[in-house]
Amino acid sequence: MTDIMRSRLWSIVTYLLCSSLLDHARAGENSAVDFVRDVQPIFQASCLKCHSRGKYQGGLSLESRTSLFAGGESGAAVVAGNSGASLLAVRISSDNPDLVMPQSGDRLSPEQITLLRAWIDQGAQWPEEISFGFPTAPLEPRRPELPPPTADQQVDNPIDRILAPYLSAHEVPTQELVSDRMFARRIYLDLVGLLPTPEQLVAFEQDIQLDKRARLVDAVLNDRRAYAEHWLTFWNDALRNDYRGTGFIDNGRTAITGWLYRALYENKPYNQFVHELVSPVAGSEGFTKGIVWRGVVNASQNPSMQAAQSISQVFLGVNLKCASCHDSFVSYLKLDSAYALANVFADQPLEIHRCDKPTGKQSPFAFIYPQLGPINATSTKHERMQQLADLMVKPENGRLARTIVNRLWAQLFGRGIVEPVDNMDQTPWNTDLLDWLAVDLADHGFDLKHTLKVICLSRAYQLPAVGTPQPSANTYTFGGPQTKRMSAEQYIDAVSSVIGTRPTVAPEMLKVDARGQGGQIAAVAEVDGERNDVRAALMFDDPLNRALGRPNREQVVTRRESAATMLQVLELTNGTTLDGMLDRGAERWLERHRADRKMLVEQLYLAALGRVPRAEETAACYELVVEPPTKEGVKDLLWAICMLPEFQLIH
Ligand code: HEC
Ligand code: HEC
Repeated sequence: MTDIMRSRLWSIVTYLLCSSLLDHARAGENSAVDFVRDVQPIFQASCLKCHSRGKYQGGLSLESRTSLFAGGESGAAVVAGNSGASLLAVRISSDNPDLVMPQSGDRLSPEQITLLRAWIDQGAQWPEEISFGFPTAPLEPRRPELPPPTADQQVDNPIDRILAPYLSAHEVPTQELVSDRMFARRIYLDLVGLLPTPEQLVAFEQDIQLDKRARLVDAVLNDRRAYAEHWLTFWNDALRNDYRGTGFIDNGRTAITGWLYRALYENKPYNQFVHELVSPVAGSEGFTKGIVWRGVVNASQNPSMQAAQSISQVFLGVNLKCASCHDSFVSYLKLDSAYALANVFADQPLEIHRCDKPTGKQSPFAFIYPQLGPINATSTKHERMQQLADLMVKPENGRLARTIVNRLWAQLFGRGIVEPVDNMDQTPWNTDLLDWLAVDLADHGFDLKHTLKVICLSRAYQLPAVGTPQPSANTYTFGGPQTKRMSAEQYIDAVSSVIGTRPTVAPEMLKVDARGQGGQIAAVAEVDGERNDVRAALMFDDPLNRALGRPNREQVVTRRESAATMLQVLELTNGTTLDGMLDRGAERWLERHRADRKMLVEQLYLAALGRVPRAEETAACYELVVEPPTKEGVKDLLWAICMLPEFQLIH
């Protein structure tokens, strides 16, 4: 080897050696820091519990890059490219136990400190989409592309096209759709709250046309009275409309029954429905008027704040209640935004109260999503309510449609696409499904019956029911509708149809008092004619419907508890209301079938369960209904059938 060659070789060796040394040095101090891999875990383990989600110690939020640079009480927490001048770096490296961060718990390790400093020196990169703040759902509507239908799909329904990749990814086994009898029972109960009659069931089972399920859904939805009488319950709960009780006595509350019933009967487009509730027309004022509580109440309970809270919860699925005394600890909503919305409904401009203490600050006027547009501070209250209603129903407010389609889905499936249904900022189990249903509703003129029909004709809805999952389960995989317990009203109406008689109209229900209150039957009769008997939705509250879960309607209730309670069991066993119904029922059944016990038992099974009894069931029934049948025996049988899970549940 020549000298020249040797020296060349030498220089190559030195070069290689040096560069590898350099690499080594970089790995220790200067290699590229990755936010997600290196920084995020430190923030999550050591900082965020004091610097995010409503806790902003020292005024500092570490939720996003923007909030980091905005800094806290001492100004910007970070100077990009200069860790030496960055407060954050100073505080994590401090030897002063009063200053060092985290303020409590383990100190950061020297490696972690080196990493954070290097991250700042490299410009403190932080991907925009990463935020540790409260989850925030997008506001705008979004139109997902529909996957093509798959060959094995018996029904070409957009819901199933969207769900096909989901179901295969989650390995949900393919299943047969439910039988005609099961489908019909579901449809009647879910859409109009009634059991199908034996005649309706037979006619449906005997229909051999391929489109018979679609025609059944149409026919059931077109029964406008039955539909209105069923959905009245859902909306009475949500809009806190009742027929008597707190507030009605001293004119501190106004019912909206007539307006609501007509809106349901005429299937008022949902955007118009909401508009008329937010910016009232004749008959719908009661919703935003709220309840004037007697005595001294907290500032967060004044009627204009109630209006803001109710509108946000019901139509937007967001909790403003927790932001009406202090900035929310459960969402991004601030005290100021709660007051700005409440102000729309106030007769006098509101002063912001923090935890009931006046702050001296006058509230501005604004929607909780101000990006949709302003509310004019110089307008009258009437004009402001109109402006707000316009913002609510603006096409850009995708949240309005998402919230209602999620509620409809939850009513039919027992669980929402987003849960809880009043927190629409949570992640849906299928975003495309939620977004598609919402744009489809808007495309179809906000016709809720359209959405109900699309859902009911999907394979997804027609799958066999799955049991109710444990409340503790924190993961959810869609596998079909959940088994639901009948609501109080469904149950009472079902018992009424089995006993063959409904409650008659009580005189108090017809009477309209001097202030125009009461008289809910008169109000609905104006829409679709007189009636001699009523469905449960139009009854006053009583121990039976209360025990079965009808709320007192002083608070917004968007979904009832489905679990059975001890109170229910007691009321069903010993309560006088049910006892009276069964008593009348026994008389009627006996009148019709006194001479034919077999016929009596069979017909009763058909009326209640849509099927004839099995041999062993007949034998058991005969032990109750002796020959010749007695009233007591028939009543016992009625009671036994009305207690069966097969009767009480919607499978
Ligand atoms: C146990 C609660 C707690 C934890 C955990 C915590 N901090 Fe703090 N932090 C505070 C408090 C309290 C203050 C305000 C008082 C003060 O400045 O010391 C504060 C203030 C700060 C400030 C100064 C803000 C300003 O503008 O004055 C910075 C910077 C900071 N923290 C960074 C961090 C970082 C980075 C972490 C994680 C490594 C962290 N903190 C973890 C409680 C905490
Ligand atoms: C009627 C008024 C009022 C309403 C409504 C209200 N709060 Fe509070 N909350 C208070 C008061 C008063 C405090 C005491 C601390 C303070 O002054 O901030 C407090 C404190 C808290 C704290 C403790 C804060 C801390 O720093 O430890 C949390 C968490 C909280 N509220 C959550 C909620 C949630 C969640 C809701 C909605 C379900 C809610 N609050 C609704 C009045 C209210």
